[in-house]
Amino acid sequence: MRVGPALATFLALLSLPAWAQYSETTPSQDGIGVVYMGREIARVMGHEGADWLERPERVTEEQPDRVVEAMQLKATDVVADIGAGTGYFSIRIARKVPQGSVIGEDIQPEMIGLMKVKLAETGITNVKPLLGTTEDPKLPAGGVDKVLMVDAYHEFDKPLEMMQGIVKGLKPDGQVVFVEYRGEDPNVPILPHHKLTEAQLSKEMAAVGLHLVRKYEDLPWQHVLFYGREAAKAP
Ligand SMILES: C[S@@+](CC[C@H](N)C(=O)[O-])C[C@H]1O[C@@H](n2cnc3c(N)ncnc32)[C@H](O)[C@@H]1O
Repeated sequence: MRVGPALATFLALLSLPAWAQYSETTPSQDGIGVVYMGREIARVMGHEGADWLERPERVTEEQPDRVVEAMQLKATDVVADIGAGTGYFSIRIARKVPQGSVIGEDIQPEMIGLMKVKLAETGITNVKPLLGTTEDPKLPAGGVDKVLMVDAYHEFDKPLEMMQGIVKGLKPDGQVVFVEYRGEDPNVPILPHHKLTEAQLSKEMAAVGLHLVRKYEDLPWQHVLFYGREAAKAP
């Protein structure tokens, strides 16, 4: 029997456990009015704000080289940068995986266009820009050593579907790395729905079978949290 898209979505929702379903609320200033596992999803940062991703002070505020160092990459690793924006992190990672590659994925074609310009300017050839959808990062099945999401996951309007796609793309011993502004700290100068707590993220990752395996907490404002399939170990 063929079913229309609305009925297909309804049937898919019915098959989800209750705690992983989406509900509606009055949208906050920086939210979209959709709640997932107790958290209102944030608004997507439009490509019009791309200059903010490349601001010079980001180097001191977010210390991207320390993030890349903390990822403990091997030269041959395949890394997916999901919600890569202009490729700010993809380019830094590419230099650390000279025999590997980086998938720089985003849902905004304009961001992919800006990333291609940056790649041409830097002469980096081991980043593959990839246009995904809000429900599918389009990763090769079982092909990725590390997935990185910097300041992106809290904006995914279908976080469960995205994470299911990411888990499918991960090698058995692969890790998913989140860099998110600390939701526990009211002094971090970022809008509330653009921050995440470790407890919230761990709850959402448990829904897709991932556990906290390591963390790096030496950045001024952000968590760096590593999740994997193996049982949680003390970081
Ligand atoms: C705040 S920007 C961060 C960009 C980049 N990670 C960085 O740190 O420079 C968030 C990015 O996530 C992207 N994004 C939002 N929802 C997404 C989704 N479902 N899948 C992939 N990318 C998404 C947006 O298009 C935007 O480029």
